[in-house]
Amino acid sequence: MKIYCGKDYKEMSRIAAKIIAAQIIMKPDCVLGLATGSTPVGAYENLVEWYKQGDLDFSQVTSVNLDEYRGLSGDNDQSYRYFMNKNLFDHVNIDKSRTFVPNGLEPDSGKACSEYDGIIESVGGVDLQLLGIGHNGHIGFNEPADEFCKGTHCVDLTASTIEANKRFFEKEEDVPRQAYTMGIGTIMKAKKILLVASGADKAEIIAKSLTGPVTPQVPASILQFHNDVTVVCDEAAFSKLK
Ligand code: PGA
Repeated sequence: MKIYCGKDYKEMSRIAAKIIAAQIIMKPDCVLGLATGSTPVGAYENLVEWYKQGDLDFSQVTSVNLDEYRGLSGDNDQSYRYFMNKNLFDHVNIDKSRTFVPNGLEPDSGKACSEYDGIIESVGGVDLQLLGIGHNGHIGFNEPADEFCKGTHCVDLTASTIEANKRFFEKEEDVPRQAYTMGIGTIMKAKKILLVASGADKAEIIAKSLTGPVTPQVPASILQFHNDVTVVCDEAAFSKLK
């Protein structure tokens, strides 16, 4: 596992963006596993800037996102499809028909999940998977559980996740209670993983995930078993790592 520590959010974002840019340059037709949440926004801003300067070309890139709220359509401004369009896809030359997010509007969860697994398989799996981390150690929407889930599945969001995400909604009742998420098995099959974390409120879970016991109660702890993980933090998120 490689760990890079930037001094603040800005530096952390730049380091993370460089790793993603290097992937695109090395393999222009790569499959990027992308993430939402506030942490990756700065990295996406850097990628957009480098694209505008002519240093990056997304024309052959395929992307698969980690998760989507169940019940939200792509034009709902709280959906993760909307987030990806707004923060990255609308500003670069990626072919939108090759950007994939679970279908939040498919009410049949078995169908939504098997279709998404089929998409990931058909694009040949993920070359570089970007991950944020929740305060409870979730990656994607893989919440603490009794076992690690392999494929895409429908999850009930925990109280802590609803609490953390309510800042994006008008009121807490508006936060969807379920989501479709890529499974831990799929995340672990990515060739490379890039985990980003920022802020003192992430320090404890970063230390626990990277150095504590591997357990489905701390989903990110499974990353200790992946052979190509890069963690990019700022000093605050790094502060409890020995
Ligand atoms: P955040 O979310 O980047 O908004 O902190 C991370 C996550 O919950 O995966």
